[in-house]
Formats: sequence, structure tokens, C-alpha cells
Amino acid sequence: MAAILEVTGLHKHFGGIHVTQDVNFSMEEGEQSAIIGPNGAGKSTFMNLLTGYYRCDAGKVVFEGQDITNRPPHWVARRGISRAFQISSIFSKMTVAENVRSAVHAQMRHSFSIFGVASRIGVEETGRVLSLCGLEGKRDLVAGELAQGDKKRLELAIALAGKPRLLFLDEPTAGMSIEEARSTMELVDRLNRELQLTVLFTEHDMGIVFNHARKLTLMHRGEIVVQGTPEEVRANEIAQKVYLGEHHP
Ligand SMILES: Nc1ncnc2c1ncn2[C@@H]1O[C@H](COP(=O)(O)OP(=O)(O)OP(=O)(O)O)[C@@H](O)[C@H]1O
Ligand SMILES: [Mg+2]
Repeated sequence: MAAILEVTGLHKHFGGIHVTQDVNFSMEEGEQSAIIGPNGAGKSTFMNLLTGYYRCDAGKVVFEGQDITNRPPHWVARRGISRAFQISSIFSKMTVAENVRSAVHAQMRHSFSIFGVASRIGVEETGRVLSLCGLEGKRDLVAGELAQGDKKRLELAIALAGKPRLLFLDEPTAGMSIEEARSTMELVDRLNRELQLTVLFTEHDMGIVFNHARKLTLMHRGEIVVQGTPEEVRANEIAQKVYLGEHHP
């Protein structure tokens, strides 16, 4: 399979502190994998570098054969990379459907000149995304009043409005009950399977990681220290020392 993402020699420092060091990383199309590592390892920074939220000090990011290094976030998003981070992407006073529709319109503004056409297609696209995320029945609810699991679904729906081919999820199940986490990750699995969406997520719960990632990358102090299948990483001595040991006593 072709590589959808190729990262080489990525460096980032804040002041004198190197938070990303010589990171080489790639993803194949359709893959669903996870980045794990202790607090402060550099996982979120890595995602911020790939999506243009932070500038890289050195290195190269290539997406679908195109160099996207240090392109601004909106450019990266329009190119086909989406991210769902915190709840902050949701407009809490708008309804579920209005949230998705505004994301769909924001994405389409650049592809259509006749607003009438954009508007009709926007309605169809909003319906498609709501149904994909199991939110049709909740489309008229006020977003701010949703349960945590539904907020995450809505956040995913907003991320999908741009029809991304690569999706980054930073701790998608943080703050959720076990049941909400399970249903959120089932949705992620389904998006990966049905849309052939390539997914990279960070997660501290090793149960979720081992159930939902086919490949793991372990980061420690800004460097990739181990990469492989969940079984390979679980059996790796460095991984046990750096991270897994403390989570699986
Ligand atoms: N904007 C910033 N300015 C200065 N330092 C930063 C900034 N963003 C991140 N850092 C530092 O970079 C390091 C990596 O942080 P990062 O948030 O990427 O870790 P993480 O692996 O996502 O941790 P966690 O599991 O707790 O989310 C930390 O030492 C952090 O303090
Ligand atoms: Mg983080």
C-alpha cells in the first residue's frame, strides 16, 4: 500500500528545550494506529506540527506526495487532513445540525462560486455526516447540552465535514465513561473501515490502544523509541521500561 503520510527528520524546540527530535514516521493509506508515551512525551506537539499549528524547526512532512511542511492549519485541512482535539470546535449554543452545516459550508466556500449550489449540496453533506456519526436523531438538540460521548461524536462529525483522508485524534476518549469511550472508539473503527479513512490517535488507556490500533508508535522525550504491532510493542523491553510497566503493573 502507498504511504499517505511521510515525516522525516522532524525537529521542534521551545526555547532551549527540544520537544521533538529527529522524528521519522510514516502511515499507509487506510491504517489506524496510535501514538503512546508518558505525559509530556511530545505526542500533542507532534500532531500540532503535522497540522500546521506549530512550525517545524527542521524536517519535512509529505502528505499524498505533496510537501505540506509549515503550511498553515486551514491549508492543511483543505488539503485533506482533519483533527478532532478538544470540545472547543463545537459552538455550544447552536444545534447539532447547525454545527455540522457550518463546518460543511466553511469547507465548501472555496470550491463553489454559486451559493445556491453550495447550499443544496451542503444540506446533503450535512445529512451524510450526521448519519455517519449516528447523530440524525439528535440533529435539533443544542450542542452544549449533549452528553460527553455525543459531543465527541459531534466533534468527529465536524472533522469529517471536510471529507478528510487523514484524521488525527488527540486523546479522543479523555474524560469519558467506559461506555462512552467504547462507543466513540467503535465509531472511529467504523469511519476507518467504511470510509477507508487513515486514523492516528493518542491515548493513555492501554486497553483502548491494544483494541483499536493496528500499529503503535511509542514516543519518549520527543523521540520515537519503539514502533510495531501492539504485540511487538508489548513485548519490547524499552517499551516496558518507559511506559507500559507503569500502566500494567
Ligand atoms: N506551546 C508550547 N510552549 C512551550 N512548551 C511546550 C508547548 N507545547 C508543548 N510544550 C512542551 O513540550 C513537551 C511535550 O508536550 P506535549 O503536550 O506534546 O506532550 P504529550 O505527549 O501530548 O503529553 P500528554 O500525554 O500529557 O498530553 C512538554 O514538555 C511541554 O511542556
Ligand atoms: Mg498531549
